[in-house]
Amino acid sequence: MAKENIILTGFMATGKTTVGKKLAERLGYLFLDTDETIAERAGMSVSEIFRQQGEAVFRRMEGELARELGNREKLVVSTGGRMMLDPANAEALSRKGRVFCLVATPEEIHDRVSRDRQVTRPLLEVADPMQRIADLLEAREKAYERFPQLDTSGKTVDEVIQNLMDILTADKDFSLG
Ligand code: S3P
Repeated sequence: MAKENIILTGFMATGKTTVGKKLAERLGYLFLDTDETIAERAGMSVSEIFRQQGEAVFRRMEGELARELGNREKLVVSTGGRMMLDPANAEALSRKGRVFCLVATPEEIHDRVSRDRQVTRPLLEVADPMQRIADLLEAREKAYERFPQLDTSGKTVDEVIQNLMDILTADKDFSLG
């Protein structure tokens, strides 16, 4: 089946949302951020969902959203950092979606998280976020490696988008429409 959506995965703060928004504009596709969609529907932030309802409820919401979005077309979806590591979610979103995993160094991730005051990241609300980032990256490394990787370290958003566009235009399985 020709791929008609673009799905961005990768660790927290690797640029999925910033890149996804701009890529969608460039392609004339609809942009959707799964954390934002879940928060909007729940009427509370992702951190509040974790605190009030627990992580398992949030993961269930991710599963429902993956199934829903798997049926749609002409979307650029930026997914929460662990969403695509669930095999059922990956299967649902990969059916019509070309998946890219954005990668950055732990230091860059830490810098971006510290600067980004708008997004709440419950898993990093700990005494030593840098250590947490390193631990989570180590635990998830193999799982992220299942997806084609795109290094964002030291690149501007426009450079990352150009890299993606070059790959997409050369990809016969992807229909840019
Ligand atoms: C998470 C990443 C977050 C959000 C939640 C859990 C994770 O999304 O889904 O806080 O487990 O990596 P971002 O990757 O958009 O920060």
